[in-house]
Amino acid sequence: MSWKEVLAGDMPADWAREIDVFETQIELKKQGKLTDQLFAETRLRRGAYGQRYDNGQRNDGTGTKALAFASPLTKGPETLWDAPGMQRIKIPFGGMNPRQMEVLADLCEEYSDNICHVTTRQDFQLHYIHIDDTPDIMRRLAAVGITTREACGNSVRNVTGCPLAGVCRDEAFDISPYADAMMHFMLGHPDTMEFGRKFKIAFSGCAQHACGLLNMHDLGLLAVTRTENGVARRGFTMYVGGGLGAVPHHAKVLEEFVSEEELLPISQAIARVFARLGEKRNRARARIKFLVKNLGIDEFRRLVREERAALAHDPRWTSYIPAVAAWHETPLKSGAPLNGAALPEGFAAWQQSNVYRQRQAGYVVATVTLPLGDLTADQMRALADIARRYVGDTVRTTVDQNIVLRWVREADLPDLYRDLAAAKLATPGAQTIVDVTSCPGTDTCKLGIASSRGLARELRSRLSEKAFTLDAAVRGLLIKVSGCFNSCGQHHVADLGFYGVSRQVGGYQVPHFQVVLGGQWSNNGGAYGLPIGAIPSKNIPAVVDRMAERYVRDRQGTETFQQFCGRIGKKALKEMLDDFVKVPAHDANPDYYSDWGDPREFSTGDMGTGECAGEVVSLVEFDLADAEREVFEAQLALEAGDVAKADALAYRAMLQTAKALVKTQLPDVGDDAARIVAEFKPRFVDTELFFDRFAKGMVAGYLFRRHEEGPGSITPESAHQLVEEASLFVEAGHACQLRMAEKKTAPAAAAASQVVSLEGLS
Ligand code: HEM
Ligand code: SF4
Repeated sequence: MSWKEVLAGDMPADWAREIDVFETQIELKKQGKLTDQLFAETRLRRGAYGQRYDNGQRNDGTGTKALAFASPLTKGPETLWDAPGMQRIKIPFGGMNPRQMEVLADLCEEYSDNICHVTTRQDFQLHYIHIDDTPDIMRRLAAVGITTREACGNSVRNVTGCPLAGVCRDEAFDISPYADAMMHFMLGHPDTMEFGRKFKIAFSGCAQHACGLLNMHDLGLLAVTRTENGVARRGFTMYVGGGLGAVPHHAKVLEEFVSEEELLPISQAIARVFARLGEKRNRARARIKFLVKNLGIDEFRRLVREERAALAHDPRWTSYIPAVAAWHETPLKSGAPLNGAALPEGFAAWQQSNVYRQRQAGYVVATVTLPLGDLTADQMRALADIARRYVGDTVRTTVDQNIVLRWVREADLPDLYRDLAAAKLATPGAQTIVDVTSCPGTDTCKLGIASSRGLARELRSRLSEKAFTLDAAVRGLLIKVSGCFNSCGQHHVADLGFYGVSRQVGGYQVPHFQVVLGGQWSNNGGAYGLPIGAIPSKNIPAVVDRMAERYVRDRQGTETFQQFCGRIGKKALKEMLDDFVKVPAHDANPDYYSDWGDPREFSTGDMGTGECAGEVVSLVEFDLADAEREVFEAQLALEAGDVAKADALAYRAMLQTAKALVKTQLPDVGDDAARIVAEFKPRFVDTELFFDRFAKGMVAGYLFRRHEEGPGSITPESAHQLVEEASLFVEAGHACQLRMAEKKTAPAAAAASQVVSLEGLS
């Protein structure tokens, strides 16, 4: 039996349908009926990426050569659309239960390289998966309540939130139910379908800690309460326009206080303003941060308020609020303090760094530190089993690529530690200098320049060796590494941040890292670090040692590293590292000319085009592709002898085409067939937009006839004819869309010049 059959009925019908549709789209792509661009955005919106190490080739600087790797999964500049890729799996606010963890373990074992990777946005990623397996992966996830929809592409990405929400000692209130409501509301919402870029939302329960990293998000929501007429009301301070990347921006306050009732409508209004006015052509400037900067926060706020006032009421804005009061996690066991039992070896160090006392007496949160964010299938299974025995459904991923177990009864800690240690999951040092964060870098990312994971692994192992002899202030520093300036490793908000660059030395390329010092992790990523300069990759461990040594030696009182860097200043910091800048000649030390963990001579020839950005595909193209898929499904039904289904699908395909076109003029046309036909005729047929020089209005007549006459008594012949007609109708839809696009060229040129002038303002 196929997974589709096994899991039928185990997931919401719309999720099942979406995955079936995706499977059909893969089939259409194979038949050459979907363009590369359209299919790329389609798969990206379902979280299926192309990755590096994919087609067995590598450019070694002189040419592209096939690699003699043991595995056929090797590195290359181009991602073939059906080469092994990566599947991103969204975990809203990081919340997971043991059943979901077991499914993730099975999937990474069966389809991937046996590694579940936790990302810097609380997601999971499986690498080296094949596109043909993605529908089953998605079904198996959907059956345990996980969707990969909009895990990438120009869409609302995973909604993140504090992993301590609900148990934190400092939060205003538990943001989890709000993050959950936001995720459900935004998922697939029509107002989020035409963004020029991704849109990242984060929730935080307090201003002072890091967890939500609000300052670097497109939309950040800080929980606050306000007393009105003697009654405490919940709401959010709303931040917009933050982001890292090559041009990092701090988010700006859009509204000081938005009540819980207004949270979703105002977010919807922001999405509409972004979709309407955000840059679409120039990817590098398409994030909302540029729109906010160009318009100014006051004008942006005015537009959002105006948009909010004009929104048609949606009951979902407030229907989730009664459920918020009922939202709570039930601890598996009653709370109890440590009872004096003998403590296992290594426990004290682990407890010091990896255990957080909850505000609920007798309970703690235990952090499972994951080097490089990775755990194997067996470790994941062991962790699921541990979670089931100690805490139940209260597991969360974190933005520093770890996993936390919440609601651990304090008295259980020694046993928990033993069980974690047996699975090699009791590494100490969470949120200390050894807990290095890293993006995927050149291991699998096509934009990677230097090996962020290689460097992170090296730093981690060197620092772990001397962790106990490090000064306490140094132990508390955070290191974050990105493989390039795109900042997926969040290097801007680390004490010691690094991002990969390449430099030419004596005719060779040499891997380097830009050093970014003194960023602030607390205060929701409150300040970005100072870029100091590029240092050869192989000297970065020495840079870390030098900075640690100088900080311990020269710091004043209880000065933080960030304050220390600010006081010393960029020039002096640079001087501290001057002796590390020079690269020895190739013959004297060839080691500098290869990257961490990769003995080959370094080159960037195998970089590819980034996938995270997504493709800009207009909504009408998506809608027409849907119609085309329906015709295809109608053909399949015909072949299977199901004439009624073939007839219904063919009719639907024509309606879908008409709707796609009408939507370009009337976005809210809706799904009612009579309305679609009534709007389609005057707008497209009478105007001769949907028209053929030879056939004139004949093709439009196919829809009108079937619509007016209904299915009647369907025979194989009549169904066959309608499928043929529907096929022509969809073709005519494409031709009409092209005609409209051509007509638009003149206004588009004017818009482009406006974009240029907007850019000039920044
Ligand atoms: C497939 C490889 C990836 C590509 C091509 C890619 C591309 C990018 C790009 C272009 C940016 C800059 C965004 C901008 O300023 O507009 C970015 C930022 C970022 N990406 Fe990725 N990325 C990849 C993988 C990842 C992964 C695996 C994660 C972890 C979940 C991640 C998390 C982030 C974060 C946290 C940022 C910075 C914060 C922000 O501005 O939103 N990326 N990425
Ligand atoms: S920072 Fe660069 S190398 Fe790392 S994942 Fe992002 S795009 Fe890839």
